[in-house]
Amino acid sequence: MSLGYYDWLVKVIVLGDSGVGKTNILTQFCDSKFSQNYTATIGVDFKIKILNVQDKKIKLQIWDTAGQERFRNITQTYYKGAYGIIFVYSLVDRNSFNNVEGWIKSILESSTDEVCSILVGNKLDSQDRRVSTAEGEKLAQKYNMPFIETSALENKNIQDIFDRLGQNLKIRL
Ligand code: GTP
Ligand code: MG
Repeated sequence: MSLGYYDWLVKVIVLGDSGVGKTNILTQFCDSKFSQNYTATIGVDFKIKILNVQDKKIKLQIWDTAGQERFRNITQTYYKGAYGIIFVYSLVDRNSFNNVEGWIKSILESSTDEVCSILVGNKLDSQDRRVSTAEGEKLAQKYNMPFIETSALENKNIQDIFDRLGQNLKIRL
């Protein structure tokens, strides 16, 4: 099936601190690529991918935002119209976990649209874990969203992020 045919077009936005792996999650999901070298996203990029949910084709327009503080003002204007939101922190960066609730609050409280969200703890491959699975689960429960731990490096559970999101989207579309 070509990229041209789809049943729904859905805008998805990926948010979280700088360096947690947002861009690599997307390059792994969309292009099967991972880069060890860190290149900060500047402003916003976006990628397109067709997601199959049961018998429907959902065209995801995925916006990859910059986690760096100096680009925050730019990214705020991109939240509008997003139907799916992926909140990412790094399992090896305690600060990024502490900050992710701030991301969740600022988006969900200011958003009037009904959105589907998912919480993602990335870098599951690393030996240097600083955030437990239970902590992630608890936070996700608090905001009533699914939770998943991933590794963009090992391509572990990356597809699942979008499948979970797609299932929730399907219910609401
Ligand atoms: P900003 O664009 O600044 O917001 O950062 P980002 O969230 O897009 O992070 P990015 O994907 O650029 O990854 C940051 C660094 O973490 C890079 O050096 C990646 O190679 C590394 N990284 C990303 N995902 C993983 C992962 O699953 N495991 C490991 N070990 N490293 C990862
Ligand atoms: Mg990036």
